[in-house]
Amino acid sequence: MPRDFTAEALAWPGKLWERIRAIRSPLSATAERRGVGLSAKLLLLTIVFVMLAEVLIFVPSIANFRITWLSDRLVAARLAGLAAEAVPGGVVPDSLRSELLRTAQVRAVAWKRAGERRLVLPSDTPADIDESFDFRSSARVQGVWQEMKLRLRLIRQALAVFFAKEGRIIRVLGEPNMAPGDFIEIVLPEAPLKAAMIRYGLNVLGLSVIISIITAALVYFALNSLLVQPMTRITRNMLSFSQRPEDASRIIVPSARTDEIGTAERELAHMQAELTQMLQQKNRLAALGLAVSKINHDLRNMLANAQLISDRLGSLPDPAVQRFAPKLIASLGRAINLADSTLKFGRAEEAPPRRELIPLRPLVSEVGDGLGLPREGAVDWHIEIDEALRIDADRDQLFRILSNLCRNSLQALEQQEVVKGHIHVTARREGKRVTMEVRDDGPGVPEKARAHLFQAFQGSARKGGTGLGLAVAHELVAAHGGAIRLRDTEKGAAFEITISDRNT
Ligand SMILES: Nc1ncnc2c1ncn2[C@@H]1O[C@H](COP(=O)(O)OP(=O)(O)OP(=O)(O)O)[C@@H](O)[C@H]1O
Ligand SMILES: [Mg+2]
Repeated sequence: MPRDFTAEALAWPGKLWERIRAIRSPLSATAERRGVGLSAKLLLLTIVFVMLAEVLIFVPSIANFRITWLSDRLVAARLAGLAAEAVPGGVVPDSLRSELLRTAQVRAVAWKRAGERRLVLPSDTPADIDESFDFRSSARVQGVWQEMKLRLRLIRQALAVFFAKEGRIIRVLGEPNMAPGDFIEIVLPEAPLKAAMIRYGLNVLGLSVIISIITAALVYFALNSLLVQPMTRITRNMLSFSQRPEDASRIIVPSARTDEIGTAERELAHMQAELTQMLQQKNRLAALGLAVSKINHDLRNMLANAQLISDRLGSLPDPAVQRFAPKLIASLGRAINLADSTLKFGRAEEAPPRRELIPLRPLVSEVGDGLGLPREGAVDWHIEIDEALRIDADRDQLFRILSNLCRNSLQALEQQEVVKGHIHVTARREGKRVTMEVRDDGPGVPEKARAHLFQAFQGSARKGGTGLGLAVAHELVAAHGGAIRLRDTEKGAAFEITISDRNT
């Protein structure tokens, strides 16, 4: 069966596209989705851009080609004319006239010389002239703008040749090396010009294809090694890192490049290092949480034992025991509740507050008792709260908030060389809002602690401190929809808490 070349030619672009699709960069190979790789896109774009550049060069050059071709005809016609004039007697035999015209590839030649116009070589067959073109310098113009217009006109005329009707006869005027005022005029068919222009166009097209393929290949290899390969390395690393982000050995090693790729690698390495560190910290915290839960569990049992014993202690008739035993029992009860709720929520998450209106002053006084305040001759304890003031809060949680703040104040005072100072707890109600303050005249909160004051494990600047007290207080206050802040004071530290009543 004979080969069907037409079908093969038609199928060729499709096959080429398939081939190009097959050039998938390793980058896209990692992606699930099938598509054209970065390298193939670059290859195609380069070919398109080079072809575009070639077209932009081609258009003016075809105009030049036409002018040169026609100028050649003018010169040839002039030589033919001169030869005809040299015939002795001035009468040119028909055979010589035809030969001269054929050699010059024109139909007729006329000129104006020394003020006289003459048909030097008339045509064999008279023909209608379809279009005239004047290449004389008098037809030329001055100035950049005019020059540009002229060039555009020449380009238009050149392109029009391709679309003009077949068999046009044209007239061309020019003055190749002639005296001023003289000119030559030729009549010729346009078909040979068109054929020459098509040949020239095809040559340029072939050359453009070769140049664009070579350029595209060079650009492709350059970009591939400069861009695609390093990107692939980064992507591979990202994939491998994302599988085990806690493995520090998978952090990318940045190359020594100083360009954008180098920056990307360094930033990625930095980000991965931070992530790994954060994950390790999270793991440590998780382990710590587990340990705390275990300790908490056993601690609760021990506290329950202690409560049992103090219950018995309460039955002793000693007045001192009678005074302290209920406080001891209440304190142990609170500790057991805390341990219980922590266990219940597993992750040391606080239970939502069970709010009720409670008198504040006795609660603060209980906080003082719990901390052994006041301390004779060392720490004075002042409660400036109206007996009638009541606050809408969870009793146990508010106790913990105030206890944490007062303990901090006490520890700050104890830090000093001479332990001497005051702790004030004040509170006032403004409408639905209660504002409390725990203030001391100790050394004040150190700068180091201020940066992360309410963040767990971060805010401690005290030897032996865990940095949980203020974080816990903050969390509990927030659960009440309230706010806690460190107030600016001249001396010591003052923490202000505001809690508003629930909307009823
Ligand atoms: N009244 C205060 N005076 C001076 N410094 C304070 C005061 N309150 C808090 N700070 C500082 O803030 C830090 C954070 O306090 P926070 O209660 O959160 O943690 P901690 O007391 O160090 O440890 P924890 O309470 O968990 O045992 C303290 O280490 C301390 O440096
Ligand atoms: Mg504390």
